[in-house]
Amino acid sequence: MCKFETGFPYGITIHHLPTSKIQSMQSSPTNPTAFADAAEMWNQRFSDESYLFGTEPNVWLREHASRWKAGHRVLCVADGEGRNSVWLAGQGLDVDAFDISEVGVAKAKRLAAERKVSIRLTVSDCDTYAWPQNTYDGVALIFLQFADPDMRARLFANIQQCLKPGGVLVLQGYTPKQLEYKTGGPPTVSHLYTESMMREAFAGWEIVELSEYEAELREGDRHVGRSALIGMVARRY
Ligand SMILES: C[S@@+](CC[C@H](N)C(=O)[O-])C[C@H]1O[C@@H](n2cnc3c(N)ncnc32)[C@H](O)[C@@H]1O
Repeated sequence: MCKFETGFPYGITIHHLPTSKIQSMQSSPTNPTAFADAAEMWNQRFSDESYLFGTEPNVWLREHASRWKAGHRVLCVADGEGRNSVWLAGQGLDVDAFDISEVGVAKAKRLAAERKVSIRLTVSDCDTYAWPQNTYDGVALIFLQFADPDMRARLFANIQQCLKPGGVLVLQGYTPKQLEYKTGGPPTVSHLYTESMMREAFAGWEIVELSEYEAELREGDRHVGRSALIGMVARRY
C-alpha cells in the first residue's frame, strides 16, 4: 500500500500514499464517510514543514475564548498541528489536546516549545479518547468535519459528559453552503452543520451564541477564501 517512506522533520517516519488512495479515502457516493485511514491521511497532509492551517488560532475561537478565564481547564478536540491549543495555553489556560495524527501532534509539540507554553498532548481517535467526566471548564471544537452523523452524535455526547456543569463549548464549522465555495472542508453534506442541527443536538444547553455567517478565511494554505461558516458558544447546564 505504501509507495515510499520519508524521514519526517520532527523525528517521525511516515508512509506516503499514492494520490489515488488519498482521493478514495476522502468520500464517494457509495461510502460518503470513507475516512477509514484517517490517521494515515492526516499524517500525509501534515507532512510538510509548514503548518497546513497556519500557526494562528481560528478567529471564532479567538473572539470567544474570553468565556474562559486564566487557569480554566480546556480540551482542544482534534487539535491538528496545535495552532488553537498553543494559543489558548498562551492565554493562561490549562490545556489538554488530542488528535488522531501523530505527525500533527509532533508539530503541535514543536509549536508549543517555540512559544514556550505547556500543553498535555495525546495522539488519539475521538472515539477511543479517555474522555474524563465533569472535568473541563471548556471544550474547543474547531473544524471537526471528519465526523459522520453517528460519530458526531458520539462526539457531542462525550463533550457533554467531559464538561463540568457551567462549562462552555466553543465550536466552529462549515454549513452546507460551503459545498459551493469549496474553500475547505469535505465535499460531504452530512458532515456539515446547520443552525437547526446545533439547536437540536444541544437542546439541553444554554445557547449563548449561534450564527451561520460568511467570511474570508485565511488559515494557512487549506482554509483560504470566502467560506460558509457556523459558530456556536454553548454552556452546559
Ligand atoms: C480540519 S483539521 C482541524 C484541525 C484543528 N482543529 C484546527 O482547527 O486547526 C481536522 C483534524 O481532525 C483530525 N482527525 C480526523 N479524524 C479524527 C478522529 N477520528 N479522531 C481525532 N482526530 C481526528 C485530523 O488529524 C485533523 O487534525
